[in-house]
Amino acid sequence: MGKSIGILTAGGDSPGLNAAIRGIGKAAIRTHDMNVLGFKDGFRGLMQQRYIRLDGDMLSGILTKGGTILGTNREKVHKMDVGGTAMDMRDLMVENFRALGLDALVCLGGGGTARNALRLAERGIPVITLPKTIDNDVYGTDHSFGFDTALNIASEAIDRLHSTAHSHHRIMVVEVMGHNTGWLALGSGLAGGGDVILIPEIPYEVEAVAASIMDRKAAGSTFSIVVVSEGALSTPDTAIRDRLQERVDAGGGEAEVATKELKAFVEAQTRSTDRLAEQLEEITGLEARVTILGHVQRGGTPSPGDRLLATRLGTTAAQLVADGVSGVMVAIRGDEAVPVPLEEVAGRRRTVPLDHPWIVSARSLGVSMGD
Ligand code: F6P
Repeated sequence: MGKSIGILTAGGDSPGLNAAIRGIGKAAIRTHDMNVLGFKDGFRGLMQQRYIRLDGDMLSGILTKGGTILGTNREKVHKMDVGGTAMDMRDLMVENFRALGLDALVCLGGGGTARNALRLAERGIPVITLPKTIDNDVYGTDHSFGFDTALNIASEAIDRLHSTAHSHHRIMVVEVMGHNTGWLALGSGLAGGGDVILIPEIPYEVEAVAASIMDRKAAGSTFSIVVVSEGALSTPDTAIRDRLQERVDAGGGEAEVATKELKAFVEAQTRSTDRLAEQLEEITGLEARVTILGHVQRGGTPSPGDRLLATRLGTTAAQLVADGVSGVMVAIRGDEAVPVPLEEVAGRRRTVPLDHPWIVSARSLGVSMGD
């Protein structure tokens, strides 16, 4: 028998996780003669030694399944909830990893998982991560699996909103996920023919959005589709958020208060799409309706594109473990699946560049970006 590896999935679930587990597991067993364990519920499973053996039977029939057969959660390894107290559980995880005789840990997740994996790598666990997220915001890779499926779901929803918007001569405001980046809103807005696309990278003016809708009306279009990323902020709200962030970054005693205020501010933004629709109704005199796509964007079977990406990254991860490589994320860059040092990835976010070809295309089509 060759090496022994553990696999876990952490952070929000994402289509393609099972395809990746299958890709790692099958390649590890069939090509590299490895022994494969799957930890349950993210890093918590490693802390509590809760795992299953991933053999051929367990890995069969999961390629097309949504979610993760292993379960997931968003906990941080250095602040795990233990009986209501946040505790640093890294030493216990290292102890469990060694007691199980493992040679490597493969963590499937987004930016937060890369940070957790690095924290364990610094304690001596050989880790490899794979980038998954519907937000497409993992730094250092061209794409993350989950994004393509979510893009399909959000685009189809926007397609479907067109006929009802047209029939009622309404403004349809559709909120798309994406956390603090606009990849999903921009991609689905462009693919779905949105008239306005609002993303966190470009603070918007409500008046500019309303003016673009009135321009469409004047040109004979009786409806408008406004695609808004959940993290998009108006110019005044961006200024408030930035001031709070500066206070947080400044550190010291003041930072704790500012962190709470920032959290409350961000939570209050969950109602901002409703507010935007109300403001648009007031300014334009047109009727508006809001659709919040929510978790449906993360559910169900992964697209063929995500299955391919997850499988490719998974089999590459198995090969890297066999080669003794660790402390890396497997990224896709152009046509290549390449290892990227975790230090380069952790703590950074891939946002939409303002000169990205999708933004250039949107603007040249006359789509309003709200600025
Ligand atoms: O990171 C993926 C994501 O779906 C984001 O787009 C969204 O902001 C967040 O997770 C929702 O998190 P939760 O599932 O914990 O509500």
